[in-house]
Amino acid sequence: MSAAEQLHRLSDSNTPLLRVEDLTRLYGPQKGCQGVSFELYPGEVLGIVGESGSGKSTLLSLLSGRCQPDRGAVNYRDHNGQWLDLYQASEAQRRSLLRTQWGFVEQSPRDGLRMGVSAGANIGERLMAQGVRHYGQLRAAGLDWLEQVEIDPARIDDLPKTFSGGMQQRLQIARNLVSQPRLVFMDEPTGGLDVSVQARLLDLLRGLVRELDLAVVLVTHDLAVARLLADRLLVMRRSEVVEAGLTDQILDDPQHPYSQLLVSSVLQP
Ligand SMILES: Nc1ncnc2c1ncn2[C@@H]1O[C@H](COP(=O)(O)OP(=O)(O)O)[C@@H](O)[C@H]1O
Ligand SMILES: [Mg+2]
Repeated sequence: MSAAEQLHRLSDSNTPLLRVEDLTRLYGPQKGCQGVSFELYPGEVLGIVGESGSGKSTLLSLLSGRCQPDRGAVNYRDHNGQWLDLYQASEAQRRSLLRTQWGFVEQSPRDGLRMGVSAGANIGERLMAQGVRHYGQLRAAGLDWLEQVEIDPARIDDLPKTFSGGMQQRLQIARNLVSQPRLVFMDEPTGGLDVSVQARLLDLLRGLVRELDLAVVLVTHDLAVARLLADRLLVMRRSEVVEAGLTDQILDDPQHPYSQLLVSSVLQP
């Protein structure tokens, strides 16, 4: 890497990818999310933890532009260094972001995969959205990504419904990462899986996140998952962030009484 490139990368990683200010959407008193502000840097994994109903998924829907806030703003710095005000952007712009520079890994692979088309087609779809039309190129990317997520490439023409839950989730990850997104949202990505399958998937995710230098907003109620993947955490309770900080600091020395309860596992998710 040249000195100029190094300098560019350094300044890039010192500028946030996402700026979130006073993000609020309420469905009722303390239902939803309110007053959430933070910055996310390139390559950083931000975990959002809190018990069920605390507003984690609402926050993720807002951040990814899937729903509109009552108030507040999200600004995203795109790969050209231009800032985009998410809620001022057109619906087409938001959809295009989600298909290219962003990814979204759903808790249930059924919501994130197209079950009626082959594994290879699931992976190729986002590349096609980016303009890749060459069959050989799409096929090669499919084979490569199946291998990266530890699925036998010989399954490339099989339908996802013939896959196990863990394989489906790995396919969903491949489908999202093939377009080289810079920012990926994940909602309980290991939620529905057996514990042994979860552990493998977490290892895989951790490797990919580092290798690809992905920025991730990860919703999880599982503090072990947060510990393994997240650099920083936001702790949510009843629609608000009650504590924010480095993962190790919060998990080893929680300051807010609610975080203390959460960490001591008194609260069952
Ligand atoms: N579309 C919606 N309509 C009405 N209420 C909602 C909607 N989405 C979420 N809520 C409510 O907002 C609160 C937070 O939900 P959610 O963000 O799904 O929490 P979590 O993901 O932390 O379990 C819950 O009380 C939920 O019932
Ligand atoms: Mg949720």
